[in-house]
Amino acid sequence: MIVGVGVPREVPGAGGETRSVGAIRAISLTDGPSGVRIEGTAEKWYYATAFPAPIMLASTWNPDIVEAVGRAMGEEAKYYNISVLLAPGLNIHRHPLCGRNFEYYSEDPLLAGMMAASFIRGVQSTGVAATPKHFVANDQETNRTTIDTIVSERALREIYLKAFEIAIKTGRPWALMTSYNKLNGKYTSQNEWLLTKVLREEWGFDGLVMTDWGAGDNPVEQIKAGVDLIMPGSDEFIPWLLEAYKHGVLHISHIDRAARRVLELIERTRPAREGEKRLDLEAHAKLAYEAAAEGVVLLKNNGALPLKPGTKVAVFGTGQVETLKSGMGSGHNHPPYTITILDGLKASDLVVDEELSSKYYNYVLQVRGSEFLNKLYKCEIKPEPIRQDIVSEEEVAKYAERNDVALVVITRISGEGWDRRVEKGDFYLDDSEARLIDVVSSKFHERGKRVIVVLNIAGPIEVASWRDKVDAILLIWLPGQEAGRVLADALLGRINPSGKLPITFPKDWKDTPVGRDPRCYPGLPAENPRYVVYCEDIYVGYRYYDTFDVEPAYEFGYGLSYTKFEYRNLVVEKRDVEVVVKFDVVNVGAYPGKEVAQVYIRAPRVKLEKPFQELKGFKKTRLLQPGEVEHVEIKIPIRELASYDPARRAWVVEPGLYQVRVGSSSRDVRLVGSFTVDQELVFHVVAVS
Ligand code: BGC
Repeated sequence: MIVGVGVPREVPGAGGETRSVGAIRAISLTDGPSGVRIEGTAEKWYYATAFPAPIMLASTWNPDIVEAVGRAMGEEAKYYNISVLLAPGLNIHRHPLCGRNFEYYSEDPLLAGMMAASFIRGVQSTGVAATPKHFVANDQETNRTTIDTIVSERALREIYLKAFEIAIKTGRPWALMTSYNKLNGKYTSQNEWLLTKVLREEWGFDGLVMTDWGAGDNPVEQIKAGVDLIMPGSDEFIPWLLEAYKHGVLHISHIDRAARRVLELIERTRPAREGEKRLDLEAHAKLAYEAAAEGVVLLKNNGALPLKPGTKVAVFGTGQVETLKSGMGSGHNHPPYTITILDGLKASDLVVDEELSSKYYNYVLQVRGSEFLNKLYKCEIKPEPIRQDIVSEEEVAKYAERNDVALVVITRISGEGWDRRVEKGDFYLDDSEARLIDVVSSKFHERGKRVIVVLNIAGPIEVASWRDKVDAILLIWLPGQEAGRVLADALLGRINPSGKLPITFPKDWKDTPVGRDPRCYPGLPAENPRYVVYCEDIYVGYRYYDTFDVEPAYEFGYGLSYTKFEYRNLVVEKRDVEVVVKFDVVNVGAYPGKEVAQVYIRAPRVKLEKPFQELKGFKKTRLLQPGEVEHVEIKIPIRELASYDPARRAWVVEPGLYQVRVGSSSRDVRLVGSFTVDQELVFHVVAVS
C-alpha cells in the first residue's frame, strides 16, 4: 500500500497510482502546476485547461485568482478521477535560469508561500489533494536526481523552507512531495530531520509525504525518515521493505504510520458522486484568460501603448506562430486549443499585416516541418532557436511604410530536466533577434512609428543592451491556452496590465547572485556536478541586489500600468503581536486599473546580518476607476520580522527601529514609516538537527 503501482493503469496520462488492497481502492495522482496533465487513448483524447504558468500566476500578486485557478484544476482533476494533483511547485527562483522556474512562483518565500497556500485551498475545496513540491532546495535541473545542495541552516530556514512553511501552515495541504536532491549530504527523501522533525513536529503537517518519482536510493531509509508513499513505486521495493522489517531495521510503527497516512489520503479524497462531476471547459477558459490578464507585466511604455482599434500592426518573429503556452516536461498539459499570438491578433480589432505574418508562418513550416507545430503545441518537442530576421531591410522599410506600429515577438522555452543557458539564444538575444530589433526599430522610427517587443518567455532574459531601442515591452510569460487573446487585449488596453515581477531581471549575468561566482552554479565539478554551494546564502534575488547595491534591469515587484497610482496617508500601528500598516492608493491617471501595493521592512542589524529589506506584505487593489481610492490595511505578525540565528537555534526579532517601506515595487518606495521593537524576542525551534 505504501509503494505506488509503477506504471499507472486507471487514468491515461496520469503521473502515478497507488495499489488497491482488498476493499481499499487505488487512487490516481497527476501533474501539475499549469493544468491537469492527462492524455487519453488513441480513441479518445482527454483535454484539460492550460492555465498560465505559475511564474505568471505569481505575477498577478492576486491570491484570489490563484485560488480560483486551483479550484478549477481541482474540478477538472476530479472529473477525470484524479485524487491528487501534483502541484503547486514551490521551489525558489534562486538560479534565474533553473529549467523549471516557470513551474515555481518567485524568488521570494512570502510571495511564493502565499500563492501556493491560495492554490492549495482552491484545489482542496473540490476534495482533491494538493501536493506542494519539491521539498526542498531543488533549485536547478542539472543533475537534479543526485546533486547535493550545500546550504546554511539560516538560508534554508529563511528562504527555502520558509515558502513551504507558509504554504503548509496556512494552506494545509493533504500531501507533499520530497525533492530528488540531497540536502547537505543526505537525500531529502531520506532525511528524518526534514520530513519528520521540521515538517510534522515543528510545523504540524498532517498530510501524506510522497517521494518524487524515483527519488533517493533506499526505500527503507525513506519510510524511516517519514515518507508514507514511494512513487511511482515498483514491485522490487516490497521484498526490500519486508526484509528490513524482518531484521528489525524497519519497525512496525513506521509501516503503520505510512499505511495510516495513505488511508487518510484516500478518505480525504473521496471520488465524485454521480451528478457531482463538472467539466466546464468554457468557464475555465474564461478563468485562464482572467488569470493571464492579471499576470501581464508592462516593462516599458513611452506612450506607445495602448493601441487604438484599427491600428495596422506589422508582426515580426516566429513566436507569433510558435507561441509558447507553457514550458516543457511534467509542468505542461493538453488543452483543447492554444490561441497563438497571430490568431489572437487576427481575431482582434487590430489589423495584422498578413503578408508579413505569412512569411513567418511559411518559414516556420519550411524549417521545422509540417508535424512540428502539432508537436510543439503538445509540448513534445523543444523548439531550438531559428533565425528571426527573415525579411530584408528593404522589406522592413515597406512594412514600416504601410503599418502604424511594429510588434517583435521574442520567445524562450524551458523545461524539466535541463537548465537554461547563459548564451546567445537563451539568456541573451541571438544575433538574428538583435538584428531584427535593430532593423525594425530604425525603419519604423525613421517614419515616426513605434516598436513594441512582446516577451513570451519562461524566465528572465537580458534586456539592458536593447531596451532603449524600442518603445514598449510587454511581458506575457507562458500565458496558457488563451495566449493570443490576452496579448491582443493588453495591446488594445482592454486589459490594463497589473502584473508585477515576482523575480528580478538582472542587467547582466555577472550581476546575478549566482553568476558572480562559478562555485555557486551549477556546482562542482563543472562538467558533471555532484554538489552546488548556495554561496549567496540568504541574499537570494532582490535581497542580494538591494543589499550589495547592484542595479537590476527591472527590480522585484516592478510593473507599469496604463494609469498612475499615488500612495497617501501612511499610518503604522504597533500592537502586541502585530504591526498594522495602513495607507491609501489613489488612481490618479486616466484608465481604470489595479495596483499591487507592497510593504517591505528594513530591520535593524544588531548581532545578525540582515538583507537591506524584505517583503512582509502586499495587497492587490480592486479595479480602481480614475480618481478612485482604496484604503489598504496590511497586518504583519511581529514574529514574521525574525531572522534565524543558527547559534541559538531560534528565530530572533532584534530590538531597534524598523523601517516600513510602502511602494509600487521594491525600488519604487512611495511612503516610509517606522516602529520600534523595545526588547529582543526569541522563538526557539523544535527541530534541532
Ligand atoms: C517530477 C515531478 C512530477 C513527477 C510525476 C517527476 O519527474 O520531478 O514534479 O510530479 O515526475 O510526473
